[in-house]
Amino acid sequence: MNTGKFGRVIKMGAAACAVLSGVASASIVGRSEDPQRDPYVVMAYNDLGMHCMNNDFSQMMILPPYNTLHAQVIRRGVEPTIVETGVTVSYELPTNTHATDKTNFWEYAPALLGVTLPPDVGLGGHGMFGTMIRNSARNDFEAVGIPVAPIDDDGRENPYPLAFVTVKLNSTGAIIAQTQAVVPVSWEMSCNLCHTTPGESVATSILKSHDRLHGTTLISQQPVMCASCHADNALGTGGQQGVPNLSSAMHLAHAPRMGQVSMENNCYACHPGVRTNCQRDVHAARGVTCTTCHGDMAAVGNPARNPWVEEPSCASCHQREEFEFEQPGQLFRNSTGHGGVQCMTCHGSPHVIGPAVTATDNAQAMRLQNHTGPLNDCLVCHTTQPDEPFEHKR
Ligand code: HEC
Ligand code: HEC
Ligand code: HEC
Ligand code: HEC
Ligand code: HEC
Ligand code: HEC
Ligand code: HEC
Repeated sequence: MNTGKFGRVIKMGAAACAVLSGVASASIVGRSEDPQRDPYVVMAYNDLGMHCMNNDFSQMMILPPYNTLHAQVIRRGVEPTIVETGVTVSYELPTNTHATDKTNFWEYAPALLGVTLPPDVGLGGHGMFGTMIRNSARNDFEAVGIPVAPIDDDGRENPYPLAFVTVKLNSTGAIIAQTQAVVPVSWEMSCNLCHTTPGESVATSILKSHDRLHGTTLISQQPVMCASCHADNALGTGGQQGVPNLSSAMHLAHAPRMGQVSMENNCYACHPGVRTNCQRDVHAARGVTCTTCHGDMAAVGNPARNPWVEEPSCASCHQREEFEFEQPGQLFRNSTGHGGVQCMTCHGSPHVIGPAVTATDNAQAMRLQNHTGPLNDCLVCHTTQPDEPFEHKR
């Protein structure tokens, strides 16, 4: 059990501790055992708590493989500085090093998106390993659209592969900091719970249903990209005039159909899912689930909402003396909260807000401060305990 700097108690079972420290220390090699003595520290995180992709692209595509990994490098000091230049930040996924053999996305990308991609390279130009690019607006480094699929190289399904992030000093080539972060991806979309026609694939059943109900001819246009007609901010498509955006179409049309399944969490009929459990954060542990934050299917499908942009904010539920939360009009994942430090640097990705219920997602916090939850140990970044109070502000 740890008592944080804020007098709050974070409970953690002894068994969980053992697992966590195992994960945290065994995986990073060549680093000092006490990251709080190193001159530099790096924190990495995926932009979304879960990226969802299709498994088979031969018939239809909702979303392609596309994970975006960020890292913020800090030079520790009495006054820490966020490192902008002079370093090279690289990433790799040791258990998941190739993708082209795990999904047929590369085969159908030309027909779906009009692009021919080299093997194992994604739509953002990044591969399964490589160098992260500096994003000066965010003050971090990023690899946009890593095309990771949820299958490890040994063939096992793993929606939570770990990326290793390494920072080298350009002047000497020395490794100055390392960390690991989950790169979450899943194709557990259980459309098959309702779309089952004997002798037909799930996609065939869906396309036929669409054609019958809406007078389209999708079955003869395969592979179909849903976002070619339905606007989708996730893919940056404007859609066709008069056709509802994809999120609104899906959630509104399916709202009255959800009675066909009896699940504890209906959102898991299409989002991953009962196997994957994509929401694995402190809120899940405290009984705050999808609908508490997002509302029900009809609310998500509200045509007046701008999908992917208008999302819940922490500030809509959390108020605290002297604390500021997201910058106005900005998503959590694009906001900063303490001297330019990204919210995600201290709290983790959306839906994985620490302390998470999963050891791998807690590994970074464990390694840096030896307890889970937000980075609240000032000495992760400051070399001496600051005299001034902690400012939870931009
Ligand atoms: C809870 C049950 C259920 C689930 C889960 C479900 N659907 Fe449906 N869906 C239906 C029903 C019922 C229809 C109407 C079928 C018909 O009349 O032909 C339908 C119709 C559709 C249609 C036709 C357009 C329309 O009017 O809605 C599409 C497209 C569709 N579903 C896509 C999907 C996709 C993609 C998934 C998984 C991500 C999915 N559905 C999951 C029940 C479900
Ligand atoms: C060729 C254009 C086109 C493509 C491609 C397309 N749709 Fe549609 N979709 C439409 C049109 C047109 C409608 C009817 C809109 C209306 O009646 O307002 C529709 C309706 C829907 C609806 C029902 C909306 C409602 O409120 O009843 C859903 C759900 C849907 N589409 C999902 C999908 C999915 C999933 C895909 C990919 C598999 C897809 N669509 C691909 C044109 C398209
Ligand atoms: C019938 C399938 C289905 C169900 C059930 C479903 N979703 Fe979705 N949801 C989708 C699809 C498909 C997308 C991706 C749309 C896109 O690419 O823009 C999506 C995207 C989203 C998004 C991101 C886009 C946006 O609108 O901001 C949110 C948030 C979301 N869903 C919340 C929920 C919640 C909350 C529930 C449960 C109340 C739920 N969904 C249930 C199919 C579903
Ligand atoms: C504690 C509140 C909370 C809960 C619980 C929650 N969400 Fe979210 N969700 C958010 C916030 C905040 C965002 C915007 C995060 C961002 O991108 O900055 C978001 C964004 C999303 C998105 C868009 C992708 C993204 O990360 O921006 C999807 C899809 C989504 N949520 C689905 C779900 C589903 C499905 C569940 C349940 C399994 C769920 N959410 C539970 C708060 C929540
Ligand atoms: C729908 C309301 C809602 C939203 C939106 C929401 N939270 Fe929460 N949050 C809660 C509730 C309720 C709890 C549990 C409080 C408790 O157990 O006393 C909680 C707990 C927490 C805790 C644990 C605090 C503690 O007591 O240890 C953290 C950290 C947290 N939330 C961060 C966030 C962040 C970051 C966001 C935005 C990405 C967010 N929350 C969005 C309702 C929300
Ligand atoms: C330097 C690290 C750091 C950064 C950056 C940071 N936070 Fe926090 N955050 C904390 C700490 C520490 C707490 C207090 C945890 C506790 O009470 O033990 C906290 C608490 C919270 C809480 C819970 C407040 C409550 O009700 O007790 C929310 C919500 C939250 N932060 C959201 C954000 C958002 C949104 C951002 C970005 C705009 C952000 N944080 C940036 C460290 C950080
Ligand atoms: C994730 C890294 C990180 C953590 C953890 C962190 N800080 Fe900071 N802190 C920074 C950065 C970066 C700055 C910006 C320094 C600057 O203004 O250039 C900063 C600035 C400050 C400042 C202003 C310093 C000055 O003189 O300008 C104070 C005070 C401070 N932090 C207190 C705290 C306290 C107290 C804690 C622990 C509760 C804490 N910080 C945890 C990174 C961190």
